[in-house]
Amino acid sequence: MSAIAIDGPAGAGKSTIAKLLAKQLGYVYVDTGAMYRAMAVYFSQNDINPDDENAINGAVDNIDISIEYKDGVQQVILNGENVTSLLRTEETGKMASKTSKYAAVRTKLVALQRGLAKKTDVIMDGRDTGPTVLPDAIAKIYLTASSDARAKRRYDELKEKGENCSFDAIKEDIEKRDYEDMHRAISPLKQADDAVLVDTSDMNIEQVVAALSKIIDEKKAGR
Ligand code: DC
Repeated sequence: MSAIAIDGPAGAGKSTIAKLLAKQLGYVYVDTGAMYRAMAVYFSQNDINPDDENAINGAVDNIDISIEYKDGVQQVILNGENVTSLLRTEETGKMASKTSKYAAVRTKLVALQRGLAKKTDVIMDGRDTGPTVLPDAIAKIYLTASSDARAKRRYDELKEKGENCSFDAIKEDIEKRDYEDMHRAISPLKQADDAVLVDTSDMNIEQVVAALSKIIDEKKAGR
């Protein structure tokens, strides 16, 4: 099996790019953030305090997460229920950010992610896929952009949906999430030594896909 790992901060465009590349390469796209979000849904639904590690540890044993694909789109099943439509809310994102620092949570999800990569060719995105989950990935990419560029993309996306939002608040939220992801004790977000850095601040989607395709082709050819 061959695997490609894309890591980077929130809002860098990882999932958009990974989905396009997966189609192009015939690989399965695995969104690891969705798994941390599904755990977060369980913690919220069961009123578990994200600051109470003992409570989190106890709850993790009661959580079963599995992944299915419907028309090529990843579905996350939490204790038998498809929770995919509940994952992308602000509240779930905040809960995931607070609880993804715990060893019990990470150990369980890393095992699930490695299991998926054993079965099929995957392009996996997240925070620790290159350094921890898929150390033997054929290509590792660290996709980033300035917090201004990431906040602008999010702002434009929300505006287009007709939502009222503040650029400054979005930027502040992105920077807070970066800090949390980069400063946790276990698997903090950082560029793997063998990852290629791509800064997308001044690139459009087509340019990023082209840049990553080139990197993947070169890695496959052993260059
Ligand atoms: O990429 P995302 O916004 O869906 O991720 C949600 C949260 O999960 C984010 O705060 C960081 C965490 N996460 C993680 O710790 N490790 C991963 N491989 C993916 C996400």
